[in-house]
Amino acid sequence: MTQVIHEIAALREALNEHRLNRQSIGFVPTMGNLHAGHMDLMRACVQRCDISVASIFVNPMQFGPNEDFDAYPRTLDADLAQLSSQGVDYLFAPTVREIYPDGVNTQIEVPSLSNILEGASRPGHFTGVATVVAKLFNIVQSDVAFFGRKDYQQLAVIRRMVSDLLLPVEIQGVPTGRDADGVALSSRNSYLSQDERQTAPVIYQALRWAAEQITSGNLDYGQIERSGREHIDQGGLKTDYFEIRCAQNLTAPGHSQKSLVILTAAQLGKARLIDNIEVTAP
Ligand code: PAF
Repeated sequence: MTQVIHEIAALREALNEHRLNRQSIGFVPTMGNLHAGHMDLMRACVQRCDISVASIFVNPMQFGPNEDFDAYPRTLDADLAQLSSQGVDYLFAPTVREIYPDGVNTQIEVPSLSNILEGASRPGHFTGVATVVAKLFNIVQSDVAFFGRKDYQQLAVIRRMVSDLLLPVEIQGVPTGRDADGVALSSRNSYLSQDERQTAPVIYQALRWAAEQITSGNLDYGQIERSGREHIDQGGLKTDYFEIRCAQNLTAPGHSQKSLVILTAAQLGKARLIDNIEVTAP
């Protein structure tokens, strides 16, 4: 049975006991509305660490004024049942006041990674993510923290924050969970109508096509990006970006760079969908 804790002091006390017993602690931060992709993260955590902690906190600081903070699905009972079934030991589910007792003041910014791609369309989003993740890391003080590779830019921001601030936590990226038709698992898929859900596979199709172009030696990245974008737009979505970048720091790659990632975001009805594919150039 997963034990639910709402307060920082109570969680710290519980985890201190485990630390004294030299048990390793793993942490999976989430915003809830858990799906099979989250369960991959939980499984990785439970398998690797003696004690596993998940958090559910819909972080107001990472939502823009016109985004879906109020509408974001809150499904605590169903989430808790899933966490229990995976053998997660603790669920930390704080209130906004617990995390931001005096509002927002000190903030964590990772400027080299935060204002491009997702960050260009969602100003302040990654500062909100980095700030809340730093707070959660300070609360949980886990040995390892697990993040999905679907949110590739988020993972890059967090890795860089951890490295810059010398935080004593290892970050483990977990592969993107997908439905049989290739659609990446995401809480925001629940915003799609049936028709829109039929259309959504076009995103991963375009990413796979672009990755195959690169592995088969096409060096015209500009043309691949344009075609990828067209492919998604023709499917009835509105592409925000479709970009080939260096896997490590998300800068535009030269042809000597081999480790690449293709990232895309597209609007489909009410849902902003993001996805990516990692690719090694020949
Ligand atoms: O990926 C998410 O669910 C959130 O951005 C995170 C990492 C839990 C921070 O609020």
